[in-house]
Amino acid sequence: FQPLRVAPSILSADFMNLSADIELVESADAGFIHVDVMDGHFVPNLTMGVPVVKQLKRIARIPLDVHLMVSNPLDQLPWFIEAGSDILTVHAEALGEGELERAVDLIRSSGAKACASLKPNTPASALDAVIDRLDMALVMSVEPGFSGQSYIEGSEDKVARIADMARAAGNEAMLIEVDGGISASTVERVAAVGADVMVCGNAFFKADDPAAELKRICDLGNA
Ligand code: DX5
Ligand code: ZN
Repeated sequence: FQPLRVAPSILSADFMNLSADIELVESADAGFIHVDVMDGHFVPNLTMGVPVVKQLKRIARIPLDVHLMVSNPLDQLPWFIEAGSDILTVHAEALGEGELERAVDLIRSSGAKACASLKPNTPASALDAVIDRLDMALVMSVEPGFSGQSYIEGSEDKVARIADMARAAGNEAMLIEVDGGISASTVERVAAVGADVMVCGNAFFKADDPAAELKRICDLGNA
């Protein structure tokens, strides 16, 4: 049993006061800082990239959880490794035959933690080739691209399936992260089937008291 962790997504932060918001995340006892990198191609939105990760690394005291929503992750991985990402997530949909294995091995050989992500319509079996060595799997519970969307009902079924696959592959240490529409009203159903890390954008940053909200989400998920 692992206590549940919350990873606030800084896509919902105040970019004009980012260091204050990082302080808010860390003082709230968050597990990771979730960084949504979008290239305007793999997803319609365009957000932040290597320079932001590099500067976050100068002040972050907890791991940087970098979620790459880009079309060419194999080209970009070396830059994000170099920038100091602690956890690197690539999307299975952006990688062709044999490439997901290459990406995961590249991340792990750099010393960073490797995570693979699936969009809502991608089956769990897309992780078959890497399930034995992933540090984490990320289940998208909204279509990637924007914060503030509603949780897609039934996403917890894929979490359960991936938890079974990891167990069957002997990878008990693998974490499962869920991203999209996670809040106090949705955390219980994903935690119940084995999710360990909750990405929270709006649920954290738009709360009146973000630290209290994070604690409430953790308590509900750990119950
Ligand atoms: C969506 C991003 C998410 C998003 C989460 O493509 O990957 O991390 O910012 O935001 P909320 O929690 O508001 O759905
Ligand atoms: Zn994300």
